[in-house]
Amino acid sequence: MCIAQGMTQRLTLRRPDDWHLHLRDGAMMQGVLPESARHFARAIIMPNLVPPVVTAADATAYRDRILAALPKGADFTPLMTLYLTEQTDPADVAAAHASGLIAAVKLYPAGATTNSSSGVTDFDKVRAVLDKMAEIGCPLCVHGEVVDPEVDIFDREAVFIDRVLDPIRKATPGLRVVMEHLTTTDGVQYVRANDKDLAATITTHHLIITRNHILVGGIKPHYYCLPVAKRARHRDALVQAATSGDARFFLGTDSAPHTDPNKECACGCAGIFSATNTLSCLAEVFERAGALDRLEAFTSLNGPAFYGLPANSETITLTRGAPVSYPDRIETGAGPVTVFDPGFALHWQVEGA
Ligand code: NCD
Ligand code: ZN
Repeated sequence: MCIAQGMTQRLTLRRPDDWHLHLRDGAMMQGVLPESARHFARAIIMPNLVPPVVTAADATAYRDRILAALPKGADFTPLMTLYLTEQTDPADVAAAHASGLIAAVKLYPAGATTNSSSGVTDFDKVRAVLDKMAEIGCPLCVHGEVVDPEVDIFDREAVFIDRVLDPIRKATPGLRVVMEHLTTTDGVQYVRANDKDLAATITTHHLIITRNHILVGGIKPHYYCLPVAKRARHRDALVQAATSGDARFFLGTDSAPHTDPNKECACGCAGIFSATNTLSCLAEVFERAGALDRLEAFTSLNGPAFYGLPANSETITLTRGAPVSYPDRIETGAGPVTVFDPGFALHWQVEGA
């Protein structure tokens, strides 16, 4: 449903979902959760806590902490994931999926990103889990970067496809895979060349920034995330994929809060926090691409279809007007967290929020 009125000053969409979100825990979660629950109906919750969410029991406890931290009256459903380790028990995954507790399992190559030290090094050790997931239809969400120190950081996604992802998919027929936070033309092409068992999430910030945003005119830690933003031609391929209506591409914000002191230091954490203004940013990107009529597919339809869930029945309406202002940062009990700055004016605002 996309009701455009007049010169497209209002846009009504099914309520969106976020298919890749970091909520953290404790005081940080308390601070960032309202920012997602305000607009999003559901989100795939990343399991990279310290220690990670590994078992069904961990996921149950984490889900309960999220539900307890929700603002009064919020309508938000966390879709839980398990963090795949070399010790993961296929039976635990199967039971957690069958009961509806988890929507997916997350694969982090060990050392690839924030809190990934418990991830997978030897893919043979997770073979039985992957086979079980293929059998039961449980999707694998993949952080698609190799960790080989010899591989340039800007090439790590492309190399991962050849060295790891394609072999895993060939060895595990029927495994449903989501390539998370796609950043390259190689990733877009790989998804396009495959079938309905392969999909990809794209973040808000990777539709906007390039590596210049991080490095030109001084180093900008708030644009640093993993996978790191690439050249403009990659960003443009992502915009093309997201705005194409192709059902295999959908929104996963990868909104990943870190406190400002943890970003603005000699070894700043990877992660961009975009929950607060994501929908305004996306509407601007889709409008510039002449694709406002396809925003709903990206934010609200393609994701549920891949995960076998109904689209949300409620709607949100965006209104176009004078530039909207957002806070530069939000205050959380864990400290201040800077909100993603797209670097251009935002004209679309979610009504009532
Ligand atoms: C994420 C985080 O901070 O947990 N960071 C990031 O740069 N995206 C981890 C991740 O998704 O890679
Ligand atoms: Zn992430």
